Amino acid sequence: MPTVIITDHGFPGVELQRKVIEAAGFTLQEIKPNCKTEQEVIQKCGEADVLMVQWAPITRVVLEGLPRVRGVVRYGVGVDNIDIQIARELGCTVSNVPYYCQDEVSDHAIAMVLSLARRIPHDHNQVRAGKWGISPFLPIPAFSDLTLGFVAFGSIARKVSEKAKPFRFRQIAFDPVVSADSFAKYGVEPVDRDTLIRTANIISLHCPLLPETRQMINAGSIAQMKPGVLLVNTARGGLVNEADLVTALKAGKLAGAGLDVFEKEPLATGSPLRGLSNVILTSHAAAVSTRSRERLQIQAAEAARDILLGKRPAGALT
Ligand SMILES: NC(=O)c1ccc[n+]([C@@H]2O[C@H](COP(=O)([O-])OP(=O)(O)OC[C@H]3O[C@@H](n4cnc5c(N)ncnc54)[C@H](O)[C@@H]3O)[C@@H](O)[C@H]2O)c1
Repeated sequence: MPTVIITDHGFPGVELQRKVIEAAGFTLQEIKPNCKTEQEVIQKCGEADVLMVQWAPITRVVLEGLPRVRGVVRYGVGVDNIDIQIARELGCTVSNVPYYCQDEVSDHAIAMVLSLARRIPHDHNQVRAGKWGISPFLPIPAFSDLTLGFVAFGSIARKVSEKAKPFRFRQIAFDPVVSADSFAKYGVEPVDRDTLIRTANIISLHCPLLPETRQMINAGSIAQMKPGVLLVNTARGGLVNEADLVTALKAGKLAGAGLDVFEKEPLATGSPLRGLSNVILTSHAAAVSTRSRERLQIQAAEAARDILLGKRPAGALT
């Protein structure tokens, strides 16, 4: 019987996945403890037709060592641990789970935008440190005087845009793919990348990490920004040069930053970001809620089932 094997995961159990896979007449196996190395995956998953993977490395060595595998499903959006190119060459379908956490990530981003614009982390940190008074954080512009700029206007940015509407920011966005009609539907003004960097008071990053977006927030782009700009990054850590960001936060060029993702995760214990009182730091947690974790498990299992049924999963990448 066709078999799905879970190489590794961080959930309390796999009952949600089991229901989906077994209802379709297939078998589900869970490897315990989690596979961590290429050799463990090869040794323990020889019977797999489809792998479900959270962090285990699915490399050329693994895919060539498991010729029976015709599909790999990643629990999550990023597929950095899977060699997509070799999977494509071998005719193996790779799928992620693209739509399980848009609500949560957009909630997280808007929470950071509002907190920073109201200087809540700044004041919170000083009050905890025994100080009092808002004057160190002035000026504090009214929301209606601020421009919120989205780098990319995909599914998460659109939800942030909707959630930001009642707060009366002016909204602008740069996205090289999105049509003028789509921007108009959301009441968002399309601009080019330079205009966004130069005119936004709050910059929220929502693009993928690509060669052209890697470290797009750096000393050069920061120099073009308005004084007192706020940066929110719930997308990917590699979009930001952290050393340049720290310099700008210390100099007051940026009034604050909200960061859920980092160049290296977990964030180093000695990172200078940890010592700044004008930043909000969260541990790549924007996607997390009880519901989103359930959706992730169910949708990943549905993708594995669809591969076995010969259907293309919604998140197919190869
Ligand atoms: N923090 C988390 O836990 C978490 C969870 C899910 C997603 N994410 C990240 O959030 C980001 C957005 O996710 P999404 O679901 O909205 O993706 P999406 O695919 O719906 O949207 C991405 C948008 O980026 C645009 N884009 C592509 N290249 C660009 C470029 N060079 N400059 C500007 N825009 C560009 C695309 O046109 C698209 O509209 C991704 O980086 C994703 O990895 C983070």
